[in-house]
Amino acid sequence: VEGGWAEDGKGESIWDWFGQQGHVHMNQTANVACDSYHKIDYDVYLLRGLQSKLYKFSISWPRIFPTGIRNSFSPQGVNYYNKLINRLLDSNIEPMVTLFHWDLPQTLQDLGGWQNESIIDTFADYADFCFATFGDRVKFWITFHEPWVISYAGYGTGQHPPGITDPGVASYKVAHSIIKAHAKAWHLYDDRYRSQQHGKVGIVLNSDWAEPKTPTSSEDVKAAERYMHFMLGWFAHPIFVNGDYPDILKSQIQQKNQQCSIPVAILPSFSEEEKSIVKGTADFFGLSHYTSRLISTAVNDTCIPAYENVVNFSQHVDPSWPQTASSWIRVVPWGLRRLLKFVSQEYTGTRIPIYIAGNGVPTEDGGDVINDTKRMDYFRLYINEALKAIKLDAVDVQTYIARSLIDGFEGPMGYSQLFGLHHVNFEDGNRQRTPKESAYFFSSVIENNGFPKELLYAHLPFLFIYPSFPSLMPCWLMLLGWIY
Ligand SMILES: *[C@@H]1O[C@H](CO)[C@@H](O)[C@H](O)[C@H]1NC(C)=O
Ligand SMILES: *[C@@H]1O[C@H](CO)[C@@H](O)[C@H](O)[C@H]1NC(C)=O
Ligand SMILES: *[C@@H]1O[C@H](CO)[C@@H](O)[C@H](O)[C@H]1NC(C)=O
Repeated sequence: VEGGWAEDGKGESIWDWFGQQGHVHMNQTANVACDSYHKIDYDVYLLRGLQSKLYKFSISWPRIFPTGIRNSFSPQGVNYYNKLINRLLDSNIEPMVTLFHWDLPQTLQDLGGWQNESIIDTFADYADFCFATFGDRVKFWITFHEPWVISYAGYGTGQHPPGITDPGVASYKVAHSIIKAHAKAWHLYDDRYRSQQHGKVGIVLNSDWAEPKTPTSSEDVKAAERYMHFMLGWFAHPIFVNGDYPDILKSQIQQKNQQCSIPVAILPSFSEEEKSIVKGTADFFGLSHYTSRLISTAVNDTCIPAYENVVNFSQHVDPSWPQTASSWIRVVPWGLRRLLKFVSQEYTGTRIPIYIAGNGVPTEDGGDVINDTKRMDYFRLYINEALKAIKLDAVDVQTYIARSLIDGFEGPMGYSQLFGLHHVNFEDGNRQRTPKESAYFFSSVIENNGFPKELLYAHLPFLFIYPSFPSLMPCWLMLLGWIY
C-alpha cells in the first residue's frame, strides 16, 4: 500500500524490481500503490472509523536500510514508521508490526537472498534495530509473514520474486534459513528487550484446511495429513514443538528420494544445538487462512521435484463450495474451525494464543464494488466459525485480523484482486478511499465484539472426525452436529 518506492532514499525491493521487469499483471507496479506513504492521517482515520483496536502493517526493510544493512540507515524512512506508530497510538490502536512481508532489499537478493545463510545475521541486525527504535511503543512483533509462500512461490514455482524455480533444493534451504532467522530474532528480543519492553514476538503461518477427498480412504486421509504437515508443520513443528521438522515431512522426502534414482528434494537438517535454539521461539501463533481443499493421493507419482509431487497429493474442491473472484479461494467457513482445532492440538495447546492474522476475499468480478455483500457473507461466516472454535472447542483465539484495510497491490495479480474493506480509486491521483458495505459490517462486529444476535449455531457443519488425527471434536458436539 505504501508506494513512495524510491522516495527519501528508499532502496529498491525485490517486488519493485519484479514489477518493473513486467512480471506483474498488466505490467503494474507498486511504485505508487495506495500512496499510503503520504496518507498516514487518512489511513488512521479509516481505522478509527472501523473502531479497530489493532493495525497490522509491515516495515519495508529497504525503506529504513536502503541497501539492507545498518550503515545505509535512512532517517526519513524511520520517521515514516515513527509517525504511523504514534498516530495509531494517539487513536488507541495497537500497532502489530511485521518485520518481513516479502519485500527484501534488492541488494541482499543480489547476494543470494535467503539462499545465502549470512542473511540470517543481517536479518537479526535489522530486527535488533527495529526493536531498539520502535519497541518502546510496538508490543506485537511478527518476524515473518507466511514463510511457506516465500519458499513455495519465490523459490519453487517462481511466481513471486526472486522468481527462482528450484522446488527440490532452494525452497527447503530458504525455509531452513528463515526458521533460523526467526529464532535468532526471537532470542534477541527475549535476551535484550523483553524485560523492558514487555512485548510479544511471533510469526504468521498460512494454511489451508485439508479434508480427505474420500474420508473412508486411508490413502486420502494420509495425503491430507501430509498436506497439513508440509504446509503448516514445515514451519510450525520446529518452532512450536521440538525444533525439528515433522516426522511425516522427513519420512515422505526420504521415501520419495529412495523411490527415484536421483534425490527429488533435499531437506537440510538441524543440529541438536540448533533444535534447542529453534524450539519454543514464539509468544503467539499467527495464522492466516483463506480456504480449504479436498485432498487425495497424486494421480501421477513421478520424480519431478515439484512441491505437489514431493508431498504426493492432488487437490480438488467440492462443487458446492461457493467460488469467489480469486481462482484459489472457495468459501468453506467450517475449514477454519477445524484448522483452529488442529493448530491448538498440534502446536499451541493452552500455552500459546492463536492470532488469526489474515482472512478475507477479493471483490467479486463484475459485482457491486461498494455494496460487497459476498465479502460480508464471507466475513460473517468465517468469524462465526472462529467464535465456535473459542466457545465450543475451547481454542484460545485472541485476535482476528481482516485482510485488508484498503485495496492494494496484490503481488503478481497487481490491482486485479482487491481485498479492501475500503475501495481505492487507482485511477485517481489522490487515491480516493471509499468505505465498502463490508467496512460498516466489520465495524459493527468490532463494536459488538462479535454479533449482536449470536449466530453460532446457525450453520453448524456436518462434523466429520479425522480418523488418524487426535479426535477433533468431543462426541457430544458430533451429536449436536447431527441434530442441527
Ligand atoms: C508489458 O511491457 C512489455 C515490455 O515493455 C510489453 O511488450 C507488453 O506489451 C506490456 N504488456 C501489457 C499488458 O501492457
Ligand atoms: C553471501 O553474503 C555475504 C555478505 O553477507 C557475501 O560476502 C557473500 O559473497 C555472499 N555469498 C554469495 C555466494 O553471494
Ligand atoms: C446491497 O445489495 C443487497 C442485495 O444484493 C440489497 O439487499 C441491499 O439493499 C443493498 N444495500 C445497499 C446499501 O445498496
